[in-house]
Amino acid sequence: MSSTRTYETYYLRTFGCQMNEHDSERIAGLLAGMGLRPVDGPQRGDVLVYNTCSIREKADTRLTGHLGEARRLKAEDRRRLVIVAGCLAQSRQEGFFQQFPFVDVLVGPQSLHELPLLIEERLETGRHAGSFQRRTTVWSADLPRVRRTGPSAWVQIMTGCSNYCTYCIVPHVRGPEASRPAADIAREVRELAAAGVREVTLLGQNVNAYGREPGFAGAEDFPALLEALADVSGIERIRFMTSHPKDVSPRLLEAMAELAPVCEHLHLPLQSGSDRILAAMRRRYDRATYLDLVGRLRSRLPGLALTTDIIVGFPSETEADFADTLSLLEEVGHDGAFTFIYSPRRGTKAASLPGQLPREVTEERLARLVALAQRLATDRNQKLVGTVEEILVEGRSKNDSSMVKGRTRTHKTVNVPGDFPPGELVQVLIRSASSTSLVGVAVP
Ligand code: SAH
Ligand code: SF4
Ligand code: F3S
Repeated sequence: MSSTRTYETYYLRTFGCQMNEHDSERIAGLLAGMGLRPVDGPQRGDVLVYNTCSIREKADTRLTGHLGEARRLKAEDRRRLVIVAGCLAQSRQEGFFQQFPFVDVLVGPQSLHELPLLIEERLETGRHAGSFQRRTTVWSADLPRVRRTGPSAWVQIMTGCSNYCTYCIVPHVRGPEASRPAADIAREVRELAAAGVREVTLLGQNVNAYGREPGFAGAEDFPALLEALADVSGIERIRFMTSHPKDVSPRLLEAMAELAPVCEHLHLPLQSGSDRILAAMRRRYDRATYLDLVGRLRSRLPGLALTTDIIVGFPSETEADFADTLSLLEEVGHDGAFTFIYSPRRGTKAASLPGQLPREVTEERLARLVALAQRLATDRNQKLVGTVEEILVEGRSKNDSSMVKGRTRTHKTVNVPGDFPPGELVQVLIRSASSTSLVGVAVP
């Protein structure tokens, strides 16, 4: 790649979900393959890469700020390359070049493998270069990667989403659900284990649907995949994200109960507690089904932690609908909730629904929701005080260097005084708890 020889460094900034963070490990791998090395500020980068998200409008506005900086830096040194990857690139495609002409390359999430070629094309032709495939032809999970250090790793098991929840842009930008062959996943997990990884998080927009799309060549489904991975020696913990409530099967419950490495945590997005809103969101479950599922999960998996996602202010949401969300949350008693104000997304069905709500209403509802979610999380965490939990040490605590930080199998953050190396499993007596973390002492 002679034309890129003058480029030595890259700056990579990632927005959005874990899937995107993982894609960034692959982008970093491709750039490393081109002989570039990472720097931690855009001023020092010859190539600036923004791996973007388009899930909510806030994500777009944040990016605009970063691109303003990229434009200034490019004006200082015209040789610089500006690359926009990910979901926003995919949703805007060529139109993005009109709005931001200083951007050199656009690359959608299913086209990441083309990045080196696109850079070459840009340098050779002097014209904008972009690629926006809708379906996977090359799994980004099979590209070289530069992994964040530590005992945990992400493993992509599927891509895309075919659910088309009416508010959501993901199926539009990531394409239809497609599952990665189980043999490739198992090989990657074995390689990670050999490299010292002790915990893997299996990634997909709806992991419970793994292997179910028409045309999937393998015979495996998600519980069977878990079974295969549970046998990989060295892997102590297996996590997965995200699970759709409509696809949590009795076999999955059994697999979670029977397979020792599979952790006692399920992220189970609820979105709303109102049947009318759930139907308008096209979530394909109702309040009663969700509650029934939670009851079955808790009786088969004692100690299970449940976290969730909630959207407030979906079009036409009334105070009564919102009250249903609060009451369902209270009834379940989630361990944690990610809360979002509904954001209309171009091309989605909900964006053109009547009854879009004013900001004052949604913000006020969000504040009430957050207060409740914090109270419930505190209650759940307080219950652990006096118990002994196993943590996997991740590294030093952020605010106190005399402590290490780790996570329980239920995905709760615990701070512990002492000097334990990353990757060690430590038994900890929990002493205190807040809504976001626990503090404890190591016990033999
Ligand atoms: N596949 C996952 C979630 C993907 S996006 C699932 O189905 O749960 C993560 C979360 O973002 C969603 O669960 C939802 O709560 C939120 N979200 C998605 N689209 C949104 C929108 N248009 N406005 C606000 N929040 C949104
Ligand atoms: Fe979006 Fe729904 Fe798919 Fe999740 S399941 S990614 S919310 S469309
Ligand atoms: Fe993830 Fe955002 Fe795309 S949440 S899938 S990076 S739109």
